Amino acid sequence: MNVIGISASSRKEGNTAWIVNKILEGAKEQGIETQYFDFNNLDIKPCQGCWACHKGDQGCVIKDDMQKLNDAIDRANVIVFGSPIYMMQMSAQGKIIIDRMFARFSPRYSPYFKEENAAEKRLILTFNQGNPDPELFKSYIDYTKHMFELLEFDVKEVPVVTGLRNGPVNEREDLNIMLKDIGSTIVSQGSKK
Ligand SMILES: Cc1cc2nc3c(=O)[nH]c(=O)nc-3n(C[C@H](O)[C@H](O)[C@H](O)COP(=O)(O)O)c2cc1C
Repeated sequence: MNVIGISASSRKEGNTAWIVNKILEGAKEQGIETQYFDFNNLDIKPCQGCWACHKGDQGCVIKDDMQKLNDAIDRANVIVFGSPIYMMQMSAQGKIIIDRMFARFSPRYSPYFKEENAAEKRLILTFNQGNPDPELFKSYIDYTKHMFELLEFDVKEVPVVTGLRNGPVNEREDLNIMLKDIGSTIVSQGSKK
């Protein structure tokens, strides 16, 4: 069992980082190995739209940390993907990662995961936002969940943390327990695959 967390935020000690790490902490408390990726510690360039990934088996021509992230995703049983809501959607950092997944979703728009890696990819997709209304971005968040399902992730949980304009997330004791619980529960759940 291997659990990885990805924070698609530029704030290394910001809300997204805290949320993703709390979920990882819950998994760690169950004795599970975890690995954390912070977007700003990675060198991941935006997709250049060259289509080279669809023309052969070479994969993406950009040689950067996306290979490292893809390898970690391939090895992981559970992925925690966290993004802040920026301008009513995921962060640009998150979208850069998703666009770069295009190279793995080729050449025939075939499933994202190769057969040998497809055993289970449980995903916890987590968003956080300043606005206190949990319904405000629901249609976008539901859509994003569906997008990950099309990429063959088994989306298990979509915790959305709201109301962060009033103070940093680490002051919220209720979240500490709730997020750690998600991390400990996911590692004991079965996969649908
Ligand atoms: C550029 C930018 C755009 C934002 N847009 C929204 C928004 O549309 N709706 C919202 O509720 N909060 C918005 N926020 C607030 C963030 O979602 C919130 O502060 C979040 O917790 C930041 O996470 P971080 O600390 O990981 O960066 C925005 C913040 C920034 C910096």
